[in-house]
Amino acid sequence: MVENVFLELRNISKAFPGVMALNNVSFSAQHGEVHALCGENGAGKSTLMKIINGIHKADSGEIFIEGKPVIIQNPVDARKHGIAMIFQECTFVPEMSIAESLFLGDLPVDGFRRVDWRFIYKTTEELLHSEGLLDNPRLVDGVRTKLKYLTIADIQMFEILKAIHKDSQVIIMDEPTSSIAKKEADDLLRKVIDLKNRGKSIIYISHKMEEIFRIADRITVFRDGKVVGTDTADHLNINKVITMMVGRELSNDYPKAEIPIGEELLRVKDLKRTGVFSGINFALHTGEIVGFAGLVGAGRTEVVRAISGLDPIDGGSIFVRGKETSIKKVSDSIGSGIVMCSEDRRRYGLVLIRSIRENIGLPNLDRYIYGGHLHHKKEFDEVQNQVGSLKIKTPSVEIPAANLSGGNQQKVVLAKWIIKDPSVLILDEPTRGIDIGAKYEIYKLMNEIIKDGKKGIVMISSEMPELLGMCDRIYVMCKGTIVVEIKREQFSQELIMQYATGSLKAAG
Ligand SMILES: Nc1ncnc2c1ncn2[C@@H]1O[C@H](COP(=O)(O)OP(=O)(O)OP(=O)(O)O)[C@@H](O)[C@H]1O
Ligand SMILES: [Mg+2]
Repeated sequence: MVENVFLELRNISKAFPGVMALNNVSFSAQHGEVHALCGENGAGKSTLMKIINGIHKADSGEIFIEGKPVIIQNPVDARKHGIAMIFQECTFVPEMSIAESLFLGDLPVDGFRRVDWRFIYKTTEELLHSEGLLDNPRLVDGVRTKLKYLTIADIQMFEILKAIHKDSQVIIMDEPTSSIAKKEADDLLRKVIDLKNRGKSIIYISHKMEEIFRIADRITVFRDGKVVGTDTADHLNINKVITMMVGRELSNDYPKAEIPIGEELLRVKDLKRTGVFSGINFALHTGEIVGFAGLVGAGRTEVVRAISGLDPIDGGSIFVRGKETSIKKVSDSIGSGIVMCSEDRRRYGLVLIRSIRENIGLPNLDRYIYGGHLHHKKEFDEVQNQVGSLKIKTPSVEIPAANLSGGNQQKVVLAKWIIKDPSVLILDEPTRGIDIGAKYEIYKLMNEIIKDGKKGIVMISSEMPELLGMCDRIYVMCKGTIVVEIKREQFSQELIMQYATGSLKAAG
């Protein structure tokens, strides 16, 4: 590899109240390379990237671009220096068109100082064409299509497009594939390689090791705010990286426990929501973990939202322990012992300005109120307990959820529903954005939850190995319906994929 450094960071440190987020970190990004960042949740990866992008200011250390020291005060400065960042939780204005969003911040004007829409549309179209993005079926209105009609994966592609348009040299991607489907992730990874071949420098953060080893030239591993090491990908392998990340060897197996399967807890019969899903029949027993596989958009989340009383149903019935139950609102489902942990932590899962204690405690207040008094100590103890068992990395339970790293926010969402101690726990993508070590803790916790033989878990996941590793049975959904039920003895990734993509159809 050519020594061709574009961006260099030397001895960067950054403290937040109670946390040393970065401790004397040095790092470089070369032209024409993909540099991957790995590390446990809260290790400091996003913080370092936010410093490069001018969102946070380092307490000490220096930044060099092509060998010259620079000061990056804000994202505008970063952009001037050729740095672009694509955030995991992309925020965008839904009513804005693709073309407008591309030129946001510097709309070109014509000789009469009017916005030059012709130029804007033409340029956007040419750019989409040259990047091979014009044949997207969602672009019903071409480059005038509003962002609200696009998928998350599309938006990410357009963010990349923006970076290309601004001629950025460094493109930072923070967990770009965590909420998109496999095929779209493949497209994105191909784009990353394409950019690298065009001489760009890509900094790529991910918890998905397969991805990293597919695209990375160099890998830097963080632990507790420090760089553990940087090396070329061909000198490393998945196990070595994991060992560097967690400081010890970690088994790659799934800790599935042998738990006897008992009586029926939940049965769903012919559940239907017009235009969304239909023909949904499934059951969950005590001691059981039942998985839902399928492609993004197959309707899995919609089904569990309906069962949790978040969305209305148009037909079918739900039985809890054999008794038909009407679920019209969330309190009905909670009253029947059904609790769902949402996949979208930002939208449904957390109140970011509130503390960890409040986020976990709020839906559980009934447990802490006796005789009209709130028992703070009990609340605090239970919250503290969850923070410990899920290894939520924080100096205190009183800090706002906004201050946590992405993966640790996800753990707070899990904690608040686990405390409720429901008989049916529905987990929608429970390990999204969670590091490898913490995933293992979550699997163990799932065993812990069902081992008394009174509860069961429904798990939706796009990570096939996790479904195969932890479930007793898997239902596969395709286009709004359950196409097949597969028992553990018959589990195979190929079989599930064939049903999920519709290349195999349900018998009869
Ligand atoms: N705005 C903030 N205020 C206070 N503390 C923060 C803030 N942002 C991050 N931190 C803390 O800094 C540490 C590093 O967080 P960072 O987001 O960089 O982790 P990460 O490596 O990106 O983790 P993840 O994989 O979970 O996204 C964490 O302990 C986090 O709680
Ligand atoms: Mg992060």
